[in-house]
Amino acid sequence: MPSLSGRFPYFPLAHLPTPLAEMKRLREALSRETGKALPRLFIKRDDCTGLAGGGNKTRKLEFLIGEALAQGADTVVTTGAVQSNHARQTAAAAAAAGLSSVLVLFDTVPYRGRSYRQSGNLLLDRVLGAEVRIVPGDADAGAIFTATMDELAAAGRNPYFVPVGGSSAVGSLGYVNAYREIADQADALKLGDTVLVHASSSGGTQAGLIAGARERGGGPEVRGVNVYRTDHEPMAQAIHALACKTTALLEAPAPAPGAVVLDSGHLGERYGLPTDAMRRAVELVARVEGVLLDPVYTGKGMAGFIAQLLAGEHSDRDAAIFLHTGGMPGLFAYEEEFSPE
Ligand SMILES: Cc1ncc(COP(=O)(O)O)c(C=O)c1O
Repeated sequence: MPSLSGRFPYFPLAHLPTPLAEMKRLREALSRETGKALPRLFIKRDDCTGLAGGGNKTRKLEFLIGEALAQGADTVVTTGAVQSNHARQTAAAAAAAGLSSVLVLFDTVPYRGRSYRQSGNLLLDRVLGAEVRIVPGDADAGAIFTATMDELAAAGRNPYFVPVGGSSAVGSLGYVNAYREIADQADALKLGDTVLVHASSSGGTQAGLIAGARERGGGPEVRGVNVYRTDHEPMAQAIHALACKTTALLEAPAPAPGAVVLDSGHLGERYGLPTDAMRRAVELVARVEGVLLDPVYTGKGMAGFIAQLLAGEHSDRDAAIFLHTGGMPGLFAYEEEFSPE
């Protein structure tokens, strides 16, 4: 298959390929808890993409920053929650490309720990030199983005807008690339019948993986765990629509609606609020594998992965891969959840 970096504007940012590592000790730990057969367990280390703490957005930003540069932009504007990993990686990607960044962060998460407003990704955004603008959670997003872009243009700048999570068709190309990489690694290890499970939020990761699976064929089945929206069905539809836009960009056939498999039941009360299963998953994987997950995305995603395994949902498969999408700086923003007192 022709390389996507030759077909679309591209700016290299990630350390690729990221490792695909076996989690033998997690399998042993879970085997002790269940009488069900378990497949071999693997972790795809996209937390190791290398850009300012790494994570999944780096792959999307290779194409988004590529497009920004092709359009002659001098400033990147993006958005997310106060502790957005996407915003942190966008600030780093902009810096690496010699661009300025403006982060419009919505105060949507009713988590009131002290560290949430000072540490974690927000601290790193400031270190990376981003201009951080925190706005109320219920502010009119469309109006704020238009006003921000107009203000920058009036000041003589040429801003490029990256949607929340980098989840446009262009951003999703990063996860088409990732799917190719994962499927090739799984083939090289002769993994056989394999599922690929990951935390799903703004949807670009899952849409890109689904588009990649449709385009390539023959790789792991993709399964998302909803860590974002309480309206589950519209979220699955939005992911399907984005996957179709991504295959259209690739000039590949569109994926069937049934290609979006999205688990509910692991979000908890809402996005960004901790759950007991998340805390247990973060601590278990840290203690048996030495791998750090995060409280908002991968901790809840891993809780979903573990629940599927303990319920025997993958017992007939040869292997199950958890895609580690990063987010470790978020642990520092939620320090109260993990400190003993
Ligand atoms: C650590 C981490 N994992 C997973 C996701 C979800 O990816 P997506 O927004 O593409 O669904 C995000 C998004 O911000 C993230 O920061």
